[in-house]
Amino acid sequence: MNKIIQISDSHFCASDKSHKSREHLSAVLEEINRRYDNYVLVFSGDLVMKPNQEHYLALYRFIREYTQSEAYAIPGNHDDISLMRKLASQDEFFPIQDIVEINNTDVVLLDSSTPGEHLGGGKIDLAHFEKVKMKLRKESNKLVFIHHPPFKIGAEWFQKICLDNGERFMESLSQIDNLKYLAYGHCHNYFVKESGPTVFLSCPSSWVQFDHSCDETIRYDHDREIGFNVFSLSDEISHETITLPVS
Ligand SMILES: [Fe+2]
Repeated sequence: MNKIIQISDSHFCASDKSHKSREHLSAVLEEINRRYDNYVLVFSGDLVMKPNQEHYLALYRFIREYTQSEAYAIPGNHDDISLMRKLASQDEFFPIQDIVEINNTDVVLLDSSTPGEHLGGGKIDLAHFEKVKMKLRKESNKLVFIHHPPFKIGAEWFQKICLDNGERFMESLSQIDNLKYLAYGHCHNYFVKESGPTVFLSCPSSWVQFDHSCDETIRYDHDREIGFNVFSLSDEISHETITLPVS
């Protein structure tokens, strides 16, 4: 398997009315299947709008209508990690794991769903992250997924709900050898920046993007394309962000 596909912020609703999460996620999954036969999926948080069993089970069944691919999930601020773990233990949801080895790459899946100071923000358990780091292999490439961006980015209102302890997390992250990518969600838009050997990449929402030119308050950009990220693994890792017009 040499492709990992990141889907983010699907904010799935079991029954859509004007919400369109099902319709847009369907377009994303169809495009993935049109392009690729073999891939591993990573859902990087805000899987559902309301974190209850009905919505999680409906999302799981919805996705399984499109693909039986190996798939993993991390929580976002809209998720309930305890419920996700419980459903996963009953084989009714995607596995929740800290590290998965895929094509000789160490893929790290982090939980930033502990609430931050502001509603929608998040925090990571740094002591737990140190334990995860100890399990990483020195020589292998690393690809880290987390819901909240670990630095301030985007509109002013959004900068308040990035990772609360992002500075300390970034310090800790810098000690990882061969960290090729840190891929995040939450921002409902496309951002990319490189720092040293690492690319910090956001994943567009599969549902709707934010208008980050509006600093005061959350505003949706209903015309901006939905999308997903594709990571190609070999001796190096490369990425492509695929976007689709909104229907
Ligand atoms: Fe979101």
